[in-house]
Amino acid sequence: MVDTKALILSGGKGTRLRPITHTSAKQLVPVANKPILFYGIEAIREAGITDIGIIVGDTAGEIKTAVGDGSKFGVTTTYIQQEAPLGLAHAVKIAQDFVGKDRFIVYLGDNLIIDGIKDFVHRFEANSPDCQILLAHVPNPENFGVAELSGDRVVKLVEKPKQPKTDLALVGVYMFDESVFEATDNIKPSWRDELEITDAIQYLIEKGSDVQFQIIGGWWKDTGKLEDMLEANRMLLERLTTRIDGEVDDKCKMDGVVIVEKGAKITNCTLRGPLVIGEGATITDSYIGPFTSINYGVEIRGSEIEHSIVLENSRIVNVGGRIESSLVGKNVLIEKRAKPPRAYRFMVGDYGQIELQ
Ligand code: TTP
Repeated sequence: MVDTKALILSGGKGTRLRPITHTSAKQLVPVANKPILFYGIEAIREAGITDIGIIVGDTAGEIKTAVGDGSKFGVTTTYIQQEAPLGLAHAVKIAQDFVGKDRFIVYLGDNLIIDGIKDFVHRFEANSPDCQILLAHVPNPENFGVAELSGDRVVKLVEKPKQPKTDLALVGVYMFDESVFEATDNIKPSWRDELEITDAIQYLIEKGSDVQFQIIGGWWKDTGKLEDMLEANRMLLERLTTRIDGEVDDKCKMDGVVIVEKGAKITNCTLRGPLVIGEGATITDSYIGPFTSINYGVEIRGSEIEHSIVLENSRIVNVGGRIESSLVGKNVLIEKRAKPPRAYRFMVGDYGQIELQ
């Protein structure tokens, strides 16, 4: 059988997730308390691919620390530094030495494909086209790369068309053979000064290469924006089953799927799942509602929160009113003080967002 490699794109700017991405890689934001990137690595491994190249940018250190040599996932990793986020096709271009003559899959490190990519990879290995893309019917194709088809052939790809001819959007998984490097060497940067993957595939189409497609049936998401990340969190939490490894006292009320990791201490709370509370978290006199992921070391006291993600070691104390649809970064303090004067005091990073009522 031909060797298939994988290339995960984990560089990028992450502008749509500022300020979280000022200090952290967006691919490492946890959904259901596991970094989004890990779901991708696991899906690739499940499809039988173990040789993985990872494109990294400014957040290289953090990604390398989290993924390491890949052994904990049963894969081997090769890190490829991209000097700047010059586009998806640029990331592919600089991976040529890693890929060599093998066929390979390109996986965007912030994408989540809930049913995995096994079928897609097997089909690519069985049919051996030059390129295979994954498409999904979407209600808003103008926000995506859109494919035009003729029978079983892809005839055209257009990046974010104003008047899309189909509702078939490109999903962030692509498969290529080495002919893609001729494309990445010949295309020119777009108006946003990036080498576009759609232009590289269009180059292959115009050259007469065999570009096949598959339409994805299950749920998938590009988690580059807050609301998409919260939706991914929701989808993943719905698939879990109850497990209580920490301490939950008998004054707590629980319903739905609840996961409490070891060392977590829950006292006098209402927990309405699906939700997950990470290791060593302390939750006291609070309501934690559906679709909430609380990471390790978090303290929540006298507060209500639902449909949110709270990253490690943050503290939410005595907040009146319910926190919802929020992403709280690491080591954040949100506190309502009891003493007058009634005033708001903030230390918020660049591009932070606060909504008050
Ligand atoms: P995008 O989400 O398209 O781009 P971005 O990360 O720069 O984010 P934003 O649009 O919010 O500024 O990238 C998809 C994935 O590909 C993501 O995991 C980052 C990665 N990527 C690279 O590795 N190199 C690149 O040059 C680009 C553009 C993206």
